[in-house]
Amino acid sequence: MSSERSEPNPDRAAAQRLGVALRRVGYDEDAVGDLLGDEGASTDLAEVPVHERRLPGSPLATAIRLFLLQLPVTLGAAVDALGQDGADALLALGLAAVEGDELVPHARIVPAEELYMAFDGFARGAEDPVGYVAPYTPTASWLAALTPRRHFTRALDVGTGNGVHALLAARHCDHVIATDVNERALAFTEINAALNELDNIETRLGSLFEPVAGETFDLITCNAPYVVSPESKWQYRDGGLPADEISERVVRQASASLADDGFATLLVSWVAVDEEAPDDRLDDWLDGSGCDAWVLGMTGSDPLEHAAGWNEHLSDDPRAYGAALDEWVGYFDSLGLAWVSEGAVVLHKRAAEQNVIRVDPVDADELEFAGEQIERVFSSHARLDGLDDEGLLGQTVVLASDVRVERVADPGSRDSDTVLFLDEGTNVEYELDPDVAEVIGVLDGGLTLGRAIDRVSRAFELDRGEIAELRRDSLDEVRDLLALGIAELR
Ligand SMILES: C[S@@+](CC[C@H](N)C(=O)[O-])C[C@H]1O[C@@H](n2cnc3c(N)ncnc32)[C@H](O)[C@@H]1O
Repeated sequence: MSSERSEPNPDRAAAQRLGVALRRVGYDEDAVGDLLGDEGASTDLAEVPVHERRLPGSPLATAIRLFLLQLPVTLGAAVDALGQDGADALLALGLAAVEGDELVPHARIVPAEELYMAFDGFARGAEDPVGYVAPYTPTASWLAALTPRRHFTRALDVGTGNGVHALLAARHCDHVIATDVNERALAFTEINAALNELDNIETRLGSLFEPVAGETFDLITCNAPYVVSPESKWQYRDGGLPADEISERVVRQASASLADDGFATLLVSWVAVDEEAPDDRLDDWLDGSGCDAWVLGMTGSDPLEHAAGWNEHLSDDPRAYGAALDEWVGYFDSLGLAWVSEGAVVLHKRAAEQNVIRVDPVDADELEFAGEQIERVFSSHARLDGLDDEGLLGQTVVLASDVRVERVADPGSRDSDTVLFLDEGTNVEYELDPDVAEVIGVLDGGLTLGRAIDRVSRAFELDRGEIAELRRDSLDEVRDLLALGIAELR
């Protein structure tokens, strides 16, 4: 297998020709799944010898060997699979080289999200260069899932890497600007745009928001190099600024660069001196930002856990691993930090006297496309602004269409709880107070919240004190359901 890297050449015409060849040979996620199983497209290096042995001899299998498994193929097989034109395009792009009678890949091209994504080949840990351009990673898929996908005019992807978020945005935005400090990343982004026949992506070299100073956007995405680390080993991982400063800049500058009614989805990290108050810094970053903010915490770790997770590539060399752990933990100690959280900050720009800032945990493994849920959440914040309890009681509240209501047995008793499961987006579940569950049960008939409470109060012959309590609990829980996108105002 080739571990060579060459300079990607952003020749858009060649990339277009290669894209045509890839589509013609039928290289896509379904075809990979048919030959290698559902997880085939997310193959890692250790699985290559197994997958290689599963492949038949066919033009499609040649493409899979070359682009997914990053294995050499004979020149004859390459031409059979891609045509002379496709093979020439691949060479012109600098993504492969001829060695003897073989075509040797220097990069991978993987189908995902109905796109082709070219990037530097398999990661090799310590051997990877500082400007290594990574594949479509799990963190990138979380950011993609948390991005609203309605039509926008102007989008920005900061730290674009292989360009995946710019490509996804280009499908529903008129114009997309993709920035990175790594020229190699921008070359891959241009290649990827042309491979996928997208001609509305513009790349700009530079740090964070510098290349777009003074401009505003309707959609901003950023999977920041947010790892809190004492190193500057890889541009995709280490932001090169102390502690969580790169994340702070991303959040502050994104909120300042959003147009009115614009959305931003940012993957970042935030540190804390006290594990019991892990999110204090976020208030600082978000207060006065002019945006409603929904922070979705994905992980929280002490310095040792954090260091262990981000240095796993060294784990088969105990000495090097131990030295890295000491260095990283020492770095946290020197800054007096006890905790680091990683997650998404989702913003919606809205003029308000007091914007909403809300933090919820999310299980990244459960995450599905959440764009519609996010739009419901921010629309509720806007409609609830200035609405007091009486105002909310006069509203018609409905559950979102993908909500399942279930009675779940209460372990250890004969009772059961009513739980709402949102079967989309963050896949959040919410256990209702038993009396509020009765109110939610009658809401679907199109009643206002106040009338639903009256109906339940009458049905259960509640006294005044009990009615007041039911109102209080219903208002609290309905506000929560709206803030989580489980319910919406009709
Ligand atoms: C975690 S990677 C994300 C790549 C890609 N957007 C994705 O989601 O797969 C972070 C990216 O930010 C880039 N980067 C690092 N420092 C930067 C800076 N100061 N300004 C802009 N981009 C930066 C890196 O080169 C890398 O491409």
